[in-house]
Amino acid sequence: MHKLQDILEARDFIRNKTDYRPTVGMILGSGLGTLADEIANPFIIPYSEIPHFAKSEAVGHANELVIGQLMGKTVVAMKGRFHYYEGFSLDEVTFPVRVMKALGVEDLIITNACGAVNTSFNPGDLMLITDHINLVGTNPLIGPNNSELGTRFPDVSQVYNLNLRHIASQVAQEQNIVLQQGVYAWWSGPAYETPAEIRMIRTLGADAVGMSTVPEALVATHGNMRVLGISCLTNMACGILDQPLSHSEVIEVAALVREKFVKLVKETISR
Ligand code: 6GU
Repeated sequence: MHKLQDILEARDFIRNKTDYRPTVGMILGSGLGTLADEIANPFIIPYSEIPHFAKSEAVGHANELVIGQLMGKTVVAMKGRFHYYEGFSLDEVTFPVRVMKALGVEDLIITNACGAVNTSFNPGDLMLITDHINLVGTNPLIGPNNSELGTRFPDVSQVYNLNLRHIASQVAQEQNIVLQQGVYAWWSGPAYETPAEIRMIRTLGADAVGMSTVPEALVATHGNMRVLGISCLTNMACGILDQPLSHSEVIEVAALVREKFVKLVKETISR
């Protein structure tokens, strides 16, 4: 379990390397890391150099922090994240969120590639996360609570900030980008869901399913940050179409939505 001291050491390491003081954070999901390439005058720090960050080797991720200017704001982007299915503890998965908060980040945009459970959605659609369902049976806040970081029993009635959702919806409408809205279910992976599990997940009230985002969103909420969640629906979940799922399909579709995803996030940040 990380201590407050670890968070401060990671923060001070970053602050000693760059004069940037980011107020907006971004976690970029599979295939969506190119948004970090839009950051002007970037200062890049590999996770491996940052004290107390976990070591990741996930495919399709660069594993570096990109700090710089985007649409008039100073931002810090995670190009690649730590997943629970890789064997990291939820403490390791969410440590970067604590560090971003310590750096001064108040608004956190969390993105992911996920499967569509709602049959009216289409592969390649973007989805604004309105709420989530934690199906993993654990929680990143389990353990002793550090009251300097947040309260013991955080309210989660509005994890995904309504004001930020309004801004993103407005941008999507103006730019003619289809932006679905829905509930994201967190599944541990690394195996995708069976058709029976997808029927269960739909019955439980989810519109999309993926293997990330919820731990980070919970820790950000604990830290009193505003969260905006945007999913890229890369494929219909298992059992909707009569075809198997493949990781390469997920990466391919994420690449196709890149342009509208970048447009949506950049304009939302500017506002
Ligand atoms: Cl169908 N399920 C999960 N858990 N993650 C995904 C996915 C499905 N498609 C892309 N990512």
